[in-house]
Amino acid sequence: MNLEEVLKLADEIVCTQTGQHLDDLQEAVLRGTLQRETYKQIAKKFDCSESRIREVGSEIWRILSEELGEEIHKSNFRASMQRLQVSIFSSVVQDHVQVGSLNFCREARHPQNIPNSNSHNQEISNPEQPQSLYQDLSEMPELGALYNRISELETITTWILQQHCRLIALTGISGIGKTTLAVQLVQQIKDEFEYVIWCSLDTSPTLAEFQDKLIQFLSQSEKLNSPQTTSQTLPLIKYLQNYRCLVVLDDIHNLFSSGELAGKYRPGYENYRSFFKQIEKLSHQSCFLIIGWEQPRDVHKIPSNNTPLRTLQLTGLDTEAGREILRDNGLTEVENWDTLIHGYQGNPLWLKTVAIQIQELGGCVTNLLSDNTVLLPEYLKDILQQQSDRLSAIEKQLLTVLAKESDSINLAKLLEKGMIPPSDLLNALQSLSRRCLIENQANFYTLSPVLKQYINNYQH
Ligand SMILES: Nc1ncnc2c1ncn2[C@@H]1O[C@H](COP(=O)(O)OP(=O)(O)OP(=O)(O)O)[C@@H](O)[C@H]1O
Ligand SMILES: [Mg+2]
Repeated sequence: MNLEEVLKLADEIVCTQTGQHLDDLQEAVLRGTLQRETYKQIAKKFDCSESRIREVGSEIWRILSEELGEEIHKSNFRASMQRLQVSIFSSVVQDHVQVGSLNFCREARHPQNIPNSNSHNQEISNPEQPQSLYQDLSEMPELGALYNRISELETITTWILQQHCRLIALTGISGIGKTTLAVQLVQQIKDEFEYVIWCSLDTSPTLAEFQDKLIQFLSQSEKLNSPQTTSQTLPLIKYLQNYRCLVVLDDIHNLFSSGELAGKYRPGYENYRSFFKQIEKLSHQSCFLIIGWEQPRDVHKIPSNNTPLRTLQLTGLDTEAGREILRDNGLTEVENWDTLIHGYQGNPLWLKTVAIQIQELGGCVTNLLSDNTVLLPEYLKDILQQQSDRLSAIEKQLLTVLAKESDSINLAKLLEKGMIPPSDLLNALQSLSRRCLIENQANFYTLSPVLKQYINNYQH
C-alpha cells in the first residue's frame, strides 16, 4: 500500500470530522507511524519534544477511532488503514463502502457523513457486493491483537483476489503467527466469496471424511433450491467451479509423518497429494489456503508466477511489533528490548512466553539478560519439543552439528566435516529450511539462539 495514498485517506477522514486538513505535525506523526518510527524518532526529526508528539498522536487516534467506529492507535494504524484500503479496493462492483460513520465513494474516495449511521458498527459492510452465501467459521479461532503483517496481508490478498491463485501454502515455525494472519485475512476478504469455510486438521481427518464435510457444506444452496428431491450431491470440483469458495485448512502438518523429512504424507493420507494437485491444476474459481509447519513436498517454496500456486513462508515480526507484544504482556520498556526481540526472532508466541516469565520473575529484564542468557520457559521448551519430535534422525544430527557452531557455517565447511553423506546433508538442509528451523543466507546456515540453547541443553 502506497504511503501517500494512506496519508490522503487519513486526511479525508480527519477532514470529515474537523473540517480541516492534517497539519504538518499530525502528518509527521502519521508518516512516522507508517514508517514504523517511534514517537521519539518522530520528535527528533521534527525537532520538538516527544511528549508533544505523543499528545498529537493521541488526538489523531481519537479522531480516527471516532470516525471509523473502531479503536485506532499507533500500533494498529497501518493495519486499520490497510483493511480500509482492501475493502475499498476489493469492492469491485459497488460504488460505496460504509465504514463506521463514513461512506467512501470508490472512485473519488470522498468520505461523507451518513446521518443516523451506527458509528459503533465495526464491520466493514458492503451492501451491493456479493456477500458470502454460506460461512462456516466455527473452527476459526478468535483473533487476538494483530501487529504489523501489512505486506503479508497485501501479498496474499493480491494472490487471491487479483491473481486468482487456487492453492496457497502459508508455512512457518510454531507460534510465528500463521493462524492469526489467516484469521485477519479471512475477515478482510470473506465477502468476496459465496462459500467460506475454515477447517482445522487437528483431528487428522482422512481425505474421504474431509471431502464429505466439504461437500455437505457446499451443497447447501442446492438443498435449499430443491428441498423435495433427495438431491444427489455433485463431485467436489463442480462446487468449486460453480461457486467462488474460500477453503482454509489449518494445521495441515497433521497430514505428514513424524520422523521423516518435511512434507511426507502419513500412511493413509497419501491421497491428499492428488487432491491438492487437482485443486491446483483443474480449472475452477475457488481458493484453498493451506496452513501449517510443513507443506507438501510438491508445493515448492519458489513456485513460478505463471502457476495458480503460491507459498508464503512467514518470518518473525519487526521490532516495533515485538515491542507492542512485550508491552501487552506487562513488560516495561528498557534499553535492550530490541536484543530480546531479535534473540527470539520476532516470534510472537516465544516473545509472549518469555515476557510472562520475566514479569513473573520480577520484571528485571536488563539484569536477566546482561550476559546474553536465553530464557527458555517450560512452555517454550514444550513447543520446541513438539517441533523436534517431528524431525528425522538425519535432521536431528545436523541440528546438533549446527548448534555447536558459534557462527553461521557454509555448505563447503559442512561437507568437509564429512559427518553426513553429501546427498543426505543437502536433503536435511532443505527440509530444515522448509520447516524454518534454520536460516540460509548465501549458503551460510545459522540456528537461532533459542534453538541453539534448546538443542545444546535438552536434545539428546
Ligand atoms: N502479528 C501479531 N501481532 C500480535 N500477536 C500475534 C501476531 N501473530 C501472532 N500473534 C500471537 O502469537 C501467538 C501465536 O500465534 P498463532 O497461533 O497465529 O501462531 P501459529 O503460527 O499459527 O502457530 P502454530 O503453528 O503453533 O499453530 C498467539 O497468541 C497470537 O495471538
Ligand atoms: Mg496456527
